[in-house]
Amino acid sequence: MKFSFAALAFAPIALAGDCAISASDRADCGELASNQDSCEAVGCCWSPLENEDGPWCFYSKGNEPGSCFVFQNSTDTAPFSSSEIDTMKGYFTDNINVEQVGAVVAAPDHDTPGGNYYYHWMRDGALTMRAFQVITPTSDPSYKTTMESYTNWVLGRQAATPVHDGVDVRVEPKFEIPDGTVFDGAWCRPQNDGPGLRAISLITYANSGVPSKDFVTSSLWKAIKADLDWVVGGWDSNTCDLWEEVQSSDFFWNRVTMKKAMIMGAAFAATMGDDETASTYSTTAASIDSKLDSHWTGTFVAEETNRQKDGAVFVGFNNGFDSSDAKYAPTSFEVASTVNVFNTAFCSEYAINTADTAASVPGVLIGRYPGDTYANGNPWVLTTAALAQILYRAASYTLDNGVPEADALSEFAKGLNVEFPSDAAGIAQTLAAAGDSVMLRLKEHVGDDGGHLDEQIDRDSGEQMSAKDLTWSYAEVLLAMNAREEYIARA
Ligand SMILES: *[C@@H]1O[C@H](CO)[C@@H](O)[C@H](O)[C@H]1NC(C)=O
Repeated sequence: MKFSFAALAFAPIALAGDCAISASDRADCGELASNQDSCEAVGCCWSPLENEDGPWCFYSKGNEPGSCFVFQNSTDTAPFSSSEIDTMKGYFTDNINVEQVGAVVAAPDHDTPGGNYYYHWMRDGALTMRAFQVITPTSDPSYKTTMESYTNWVLGRQAATPVHDGVDVRVEPKFEIPDGTVFDGAWCRPQNDGPGLRAISLITYANSGVPSKDFVTSSLWKAIKADLDWVVGGWDSNTCDLWEEVQSSDFFWNRVTMKKAMIMGAAFAATMGDDETASTYSTTAASIDSKLDSHWTGTFVAEETNRQKDGAVFVGFNNGFDSSDAKYAPTSFEVASTVNVFNTAFCSEYAINTADTAASVPGVLIGRYPGDTYANGNPWVLTTAALAQILYRAASYTLDNGVPEADALSEFAKGLNVEFPSDAAGIAQTLAAAGDSVMLRLKEHVGDDGGHLDEQIDRDSGEQMSAKDLTWSYAEVLLAMNAREEYIARA
């Protein structure tokens, strides 16, 4: 008797239990409803949030919609033709070595929703110069001149006069073009991902076999060491995130890219005969690594406690991967599960994803984070291309390392709405086709713009918008297409 009484008393609470979902795990039901009555009328849960980002109207446990990803099974035709890629490369390189001073302009657009983008951002510039090296043959004469110009620009910025109390110039976010002075307006500072990213680009150049021994010792090593020495002391410090909005000392993006810089730096210091520095960098890499695991939530890698699901993690999986420890390999359970969780989250975030999926347009569009409000909160070209790059890399990784673990494949299957074959070659082809699917949805929205890539894609209309000719958008799209070519060449 007691038992059935208790069961009865529990009946209404069981519903509350199905609605007990943390802010970051809620799947937005707001497309259907916007107040408590309309929300509960469609069977969703209503629970306002005060200090956290997240939907107030959300699906109850077990009723969440899955990924809207549309898989198209073809790798026969590249999503962008080689002439389209060449056009994009042209716009990309137009933004490099601007005014012949070695600077990279974030976008030659003086009037974006975020203001003037005609500055050299440390982060964008460094990522761009890595991408430039990936897509440019070392035999191309512009390879050397452009990289040496950039190296000299970096040395100049490291020597710039500090203008903000307590902010080392190495972690200033942006600089004036062409004079290279520190940007002096109000801005989110410091941004501590810059030194590691610059070092990654410069070490890549130093190792390319192109620069003279003298240039390596007198210029490159000097610039690299100045940046990496900052990381040794500053890697665990407070910083703005890469979107320049929130502050923390524990962003996945910053950690994973700094760790890679330290691993590369240790090897490079050893080739320079500086074993003591090499050992310091190795120790720092291990310290950073020990803080990475806490970003794994059990179902996805979180950018930060208060900004959990963030496309920055996708960009970090690509830019922060180092084969020496293969952490967050593109076919790992962590990466696959993060792809599934983020695809699902961004599906319900944007009306354009719902509309595209209904119209059977392949792929999915990814933004910065659910709840973004910058320029109304939209999918971004660069985070979408970063997802494609992960999938192409996963395809090549499967050719190299064989069939991925079953739990990883099962997450990819959910996130990409596909059934995998059982052989490694077939799995690799399926992952590459998923990469093509992503690029095809991107192309659906950028394809009529003559090869120009902007920052964002309007969440409702699907038109490109915000900063025009964003350099980082080109960098990510070209890196994705390069990763595709690497797979195709071997498949
Ligand atoms: C994709 O197409 C290839 C070639 O026709 C086929 O072998 C493979 O099974 C297909 N994969 C999926 C997931 O349907």
